[in-house]
Amino acid sequence: MTQAPWWRDAVIYQIYPRSFSDADGDGYGDIPGIIARLDHVKDLGVDAIWCSPFYASPMKDAGYDVSDYQSIDPLFGTLADAEALVEACHARGLKLIVDLVPNHTSSQHAWFKAALAAAPGSPERAMYHFADGRGEHGELPPNNWTSIFGGKGWTRLVDADGNPEQWYLHLFDVTQPDLNWDDERVRQGFDDILRFWLDRGVDGFRVDVAHSLVKAPGLPDDDADYRMIAGGQGPMWDQDGVHDIYRRWRRILDEYSGERILVAEAWVDVPERLALYLRPDEMHTAFNFRFLASEWDADAYRECITHSLDADEAVGAPTTWVLSNHDAMRHVSRLGRRERPGVHEAFIGPDDEQPDHALGLRRARAATMMELSLPGSAYLYQGEELGLPDHTTLPHEYRQDPAWFQSGHEEIGRDGCRIPLPWEADAPGLGFSPTGRTWLPQPGSYRALAVDAQSGVEGSTLELYRRWLRLRRDLGLGQGTLTWRDDFGDGVLAYENAGVLVIVNVSGAPLPLPADREVLTSSEPLGATLPKDAAVWLR
Ligand code: GLC
Repeated sequence: MTQAPWWRDAVIYQIYPRSFSDADGDGYGDIPGIIARLDHVKDLGVDAIWCSPFYASPMKDAGYDVSDYQSIDPLFGTLADAEALVEACHARGLKLIVDLVPNHTSSQHAWFKAALAAAPGSPERAMYHFADGRGEHGELPPNNWTSIFGGKGWTRLVDADGNPEQWYLHLFDVTQPDLNWDDERVRQGFDDILRFWLDRGVDGFRVDVAHSLVKAPGLPDDDADYRMIAGGQGPMWDQDGVHDIYRRWRRILDEYSGERILVAEAWVDVPERLALYLRPDEMHTAFNFRFLASEWDADAYRECITHSLDADEAVGAPTTWVLSNHDAMRHVSRLGRRERPGVHEAFIGPDDEQPDHALGLRRARAATMMELSLPGSAYLYQGEELGLPDHTTLPHEYRQDPAWFQSGHEEIGRDGCRIPLPWEADAPGLGFSPTGRTWLPQPGSYRALAVDAQSGVEGSTLELYRRWLRLRRDLGLGQGTLTWRDDFGDGVLAYENAGVLVIVNVSGAPLPLPADREVLTSSEPLGATLPKDAAVWLR
């Protein structure tokens, strides 16, 4: 029997470098800090790491604003540190996936600086989306697109004499100008960036906003007329032309030995559209955000799981499950919300109704047991193995997410899910940094959740994750085939996979356990019943 490629059932742990572990004491995590704590990740029992951006950056969007893709920001270390990280991962049998941010650069990137210095209509400007404004004096933006972070999607330049000039497009922060992927130099530039990192041994790329690189020709207004012709999506999302780019990249990856992968961050709702990114000559996997965004409801999960598996199978790709990341409220907090628990929507601040942490943790453990028992690959976000909630009462004065600023404080932003990790309950800064400094304050609840407070403690979230990951691997759950079981009643998710019966009790009432099966593990202590908001794996 030939072995399936590693990525088809891999569990991949996301490291958000500024919040993982700080070695130099400045309060920001760094690459030497990651290396120092790598055994924690290894011992958890995952297969690979995805590291969020560590490239040179003015840090207007926490490093997703890259000013040089081939150097490391001093905040995080040096290129030699990054090379040492690749080596340290490989020495432990872990793969390393790095982040690639191709939709936009930082406004401090050499390409954008050259574009600003050049005249309208110049080849330098053609690498981005510059356009004259509408209105009598060009005072209106070229179209009605808005920024994901709030406000206009365009900013108008002012020339050296203070005269208004052209506009440039930014779907995110004003310091993140969108690249023009119709320009061959942009494509070639990214070919070089891919090769630069592949030559350094990385095992793949997580591709940031992979569904937005190509814009509809002529940059039409995003309105009802357009969406009617385009089948719902806006002119900046999921354009068919984007697939040529991934075919081109796939050819480059395939020149390298080992199975190097592309994983799409594409918020594309229709599973059949998302699956197009996973055709055999394109990307390998894509995050399934419908699963992350699902309400805590048996029918919703079942529909999502079935539909996703079917759509991906049609193109021969595995499905990739995810519950938390650096852009979404952690699933402990999301599932502890009183209204529509689980649904991915606005973050929570100190003035909002607070989630129920105990309830959220119960559900989050059950949801993770569901995630890890589904066929395909899975992503874990640093700290979820500790059952961390978001910092939902973070005082506004600490906020750094551009969404908070660009939305005029309407959006709380994502800082709450990006808090530095607690390693040692009794150390300053909970052991995140040798000086005790942390770039965002940690909430009081993190102390009892520190790694050293949970390690070796039977029934702790950390020990449960270790156990689930070991079982998942031993039982081959990632490589199995799912069959639904309908005999457990309403509000219960039950399925067989690789000889394991999985039951997730979303019903709101305890459920008698089948007598003829042996319990392998559960998210809560069991008696004769499976409590509500709990999950069990049975053999
Ligand atoms: C992705 C990243 C997010 C970032 C955005 C712009 O969604 O995950 O953190 O702000 O792209 O690069």
